[in-house]
Amino acid sequence: MQRDLQILLSAPALTGKELEFMRDAVTRQRISGDGHFTRLCQELLKKEIGSERVLLTTSCTSALEMCAILLDIGSGDEVIVPSFTFVSGANAFVLRGAKPIFADIHPDTLNINEALVERLITPRTKAIAIVHYAGVACAMEPLLAISKTHGIPIIEDNAHGLFGKYQGRPLGCLGTFATQSFHDTKNVTCGEGGALVINDARFIERAEILWEKGTNRKKFFAGLVDKYTWVDIGSSFLLSDLQAAFLFAQLEQAAQIQSVRHSLWQRYYDALQPLAQRTGISLPFVPADCQHAAHLFYVLLPDQSRRDQLMRFLRSKNIESAFHYLPLHLSPMGRGFGYQEGDCPVTEEISGRLLRLPFHNQLTEDEQNRVISAVAEFASLEVR
Ligand SMILES: Cc1ncc(COP(=O)(O)O)c(C=O)c1O
Repeated sequence: MQRDLQILLSAPALTGKELEFMRDAVTRQRISGDGHFTRLCQELLKKEIGSERVLLTTSCTSALEMCAILLDIGSGDEVIVPSFTFVSGANAFVLRGAKPIFADIHPDTLNINEALVERLITPRTKAIAIVHYAGVACAMEPLLAISKTHGIPIIEDNAHGLFGKYQGRPLGCLGTFATQSFHDTKNVTCGEGGALVINDARFIERAEILWEKGTNRKKFFAGLVDKYTWVDIGSSFLLSDLQAAFLFAQLEQAAQIQSVRHSLWQRYYDALQPLAQRTGISLPFVPADCQHAAHLFYVLLPDQSRRDQLMRFLRSKNIESAFHYLPLHLSPMGRGFGYQEGDCPVTEEISGRLLRLPFHNQLTEDEQNRVISAVAEFASLEVR
């Protein structure tokens, strides 16, 4: 019997211009950071998001680390983060000596629960770092009100949310900072990469120094100082222009990439919705004031055992699927901070029930039909 070809969970979108732009970068004989393509990407992102300044970084992780330095986060400080996120969402602050204060999520959007955030604020809280999970905005109106009342900055971890909107405003322009990821699992990619989005102009000058290893190199190149020197802490946070060239080819075609992703997302949703009504499988929820970024497509099974069964069932049909995130508060590091079972009950429950379906720009209609049929077959076995 012929085995169906494997359907991948994720694969990068390729626009066709990536190698041409990389060749161009090489021809310019300037492939380190802050070059021609870096500037093109930064300007494009700045316009798209509507921010004051964008700096390309080596990853979303390094952009988060820059936020922690810019906010002078240090030992004894606290940063409120969702437990339902990627490890960098907490690690960037722990690296500076802070304690992550884990907040639980809403069971519908899987975004941080703003009512809990407010209760977790103490005099030590230095930042609230939120995630627009799956590219669906957090409840930004109440979160921004909390931020204003308590004078605590918000960092939008916008790894999933580029091109998403909240009440018509682009995700990434709402917090003091936002961080982007261009890892190859993201909608636009350069393999590994990221960006720091700065929405408060007071942080720009220092951010440019941190970005360049703690030097005032930027001022030197602008002719403002006659030599550059060490003026602050910092690191090599900037992305190579070779990768920026790859990224620019993707960003230029972002509308096309997004259009394909939105069609795929809607196709999954429309096909699985009738089934969701008959079975215990539920689908992503997008509030009316959010335009999601079509970053990923997940289903929620009634419990972990059925989630694991569906994953095995899909694997038997050569279809990749994946779950995430394991609750950070129950990780070895989280437990080291004193967290335990029951601290974020919604996160604990959702994490065991969530399954991500193959979702990427190279997914063909036939492949998507195979996934949909497999989920439907599994659900019908369940119902019987
Ligand atoms: C929500 C979130 N934040 C941050 C990251 C880290 O991104 P990067 O790999 O660009 O550092 C990820 C990675 O997938 C993520 O999902």
